[in-house]
Amino acid sequence: MCGIFGFIGSDNVAGILIDGLRKLEYRGYDSAGICVKEENQLKIVKKKGKVDDLAREVKKTDINGVVGIAHTRWATHGEPNSLNAHPHFDCKGEIAIVHNGIIENYEALKEVLIDEGHIFRSDTDTEILVHLIEKFYSGNLEQAVIEALKLIDGTYGIAAISKNEDKIVVARKSSPIILGISSECKIVSSDAVAILEHTKNVIFLHDKEIAVLTKDNIKTYDLNGQAIDKKVEEIKWSIEQIEKKGYKHFMLKEIFEQPESIQNVTRGRFKEGKIKFSFELEPNDISRIIIIGCGTSWHAALIGKYILEKYVSIPVEVDYASEFRYRDIVLNGKELVIFISQSGETADTLAALREVRKYKSITTFGIVNVVGSSIAREVDMGIYLHAGPEIGVASTKAFTSQIMALFLLGLYLKSKKGNEIEKFIIEEINNIHKKIEQALNNHELVHSIALKYKNARNFLYLGRGINFPVALEGALKLKEISYIHAEGYPAAEMKHGPIALIDRNMPVVFIATQGRLFEKVLSNMEEVKARQGKIITITDYECRQLKNLSDEIILIPDTIEEISPIINIIPLQLLAYHIADEKGLNVDKPRNLAKSVTVE
Ligand code: M6R
Repeated sequence: MCGIFGFIGSDNVAGILIDGLRKLEYRGYDSAGICVKEENQLKIVKKKGKVDDLAREVKKTDINGVVGIAHTRWATHGEPNSLNAHPHFDCKGEIAIVHNGIIENYEALKEVLIDEGHIFRSDTDTEILVHLIEKFYSGNLEQAVIEALKLIDGTYGIAAISKNEDKIVVARKSSPIILGISSECKIVSSDAVAILEHTKNVIFLHDKEIAVLTKDNIKTYDLNGQAIDKKVEEIKWSIEQIEKKGYKHFMLKEIFEQPESIQNVTRGRFKEGKIKFSFELEPNDISRIIIIGCGTSWHAALIGKYILEKYVSIPVEVDYASEFRYRDIVLNGKELVIFISQSGETADTLAALREVRKYKSITTFGIVNVVGSSIAREVDMGIYLHAGPEIGVASTKAFTSQIMALFLLGLYLKSKKGNEIEKFIIEEINNIHKKIEQALNNHELVHSIALKYKNARNFLYLGRGINFPVALEGALKLKEISYIHAEGYPAAEMKHGPIALIDRNMPVVFIATQGRLFEKVLSNMEEVKARQGKIITITDYECRQLKNLSDEIILIPDTIEEISPIINIIPLQLLAYHIADEKGLNVDKPRNLAKSVTVE
């Protein structure tokens, strides 16, 4: 989704802004632009398309200045074109702004501003902000920004500059803003990955806070202009982690990082057979658990339901954040509500969290990857995944770590209920990375299967029990990066509708691992075979019946059923990856998608 980058230092900032935007590309965008303060004027270059296209335009100019702001836009209001791309100017071209988020009352404000004589050049909601700032500007940019923001309903992360002042003014409400601080420069970005190259020292701006960046310092205020002190924190991610390290795509690298990322979430958790966390939860005080997320994180939540109901015997509900936030949910104040998010910035998940926080007695719990993100900061307690930066839009390593985090939470609550954690479970957790490696060894086999089926127009993914969410996740991976229509279904539900789709052109991926429902899944496979569907089977047990039924078999190691999705998803991630790559698609940045969905 949209990305903000701004820089103030002593070097010409144009190239630095372009480099910053390149780091934000993975978030998804359709146009980009920069604005540089040059002596007493602002120079803007904007372009529909890729940052490379923008870079070519910038090269044709002689822009030279030490203060600048930049943006990658993911269109919400107004089509993706150069006019709607940010930065946006005021009437006289003296103030420029970049904005993430949505101004909800923009139409009413625009009417007033037009009546007052302001001239609009774009179809965006953002442009009203720069005209409001212009209206209130009398020589002090932060003052004008404060006045303008008082009139705004909606969400924003903004960075503004004026031709008259050597500063960048920044503000946020529900849209991430991180400030980088070093002796040579000050930076604003919506994402830590664009800051890392310059410094690891950052300040996380909170909602309704304003910052003023000059070359020498950063000052922070609340929306009334009262100064506030902010802590400087250190980002733990390294620059190497955001490079491809010889892999063709980030997604492939991240798939292969899973043996390591899974160890990061479990490291140091067990001591003498006991599980350790810094939070305290009392299962007897919890009436019900609700798990909330979007997309892949929602699929992890579904797996969490199986785990927690089995290990803790507390009823568990799972909801999409976007549905939960507007539902007339009945809460009794004794719930534990878990928010799962790789980015920690997903707008719907954050809004759902804020709804729940209105109930003071409810405990909110985050399972988040990005340290210091909004959700991580606003929950009462939680588990960080420590999976490292996930750059590919298709979530892979975060998913497997989310499952493990939910499993660890299940074990923690189980042990708090006075139950011992069996030795074999701890051993299995300690060895799961080796099993992921074994599953990854199917790489070439999966590639050859991808070559066979890459031209299929539809795919069906079927699984039962804990493998149903795995089927959903396999289908999501395929559709988001290969643009092939794919549906995940509980295998037994197939006969209630999707069976009508099955013929010799329909590949059906079965997740058929050992467990209570294995025999039942075999029966569902018979039903597909009888209608000439092509069966691709993921299994940990190659019995004769399964061999006869399957057109392709991918054998993976077996493990405890509750964490088996961590292994079972690996071939499905690889299958989606190879199909998309063989089709020549942009695996890491699929069309229309954003890595971090920061608008509703
Ligand atoms: O950062 P989050 O985990 O909150 O993101 C949620 C979804 O937007 C995300 O999982 C999305 O579905 C991915 N593209 C899936 O690969």
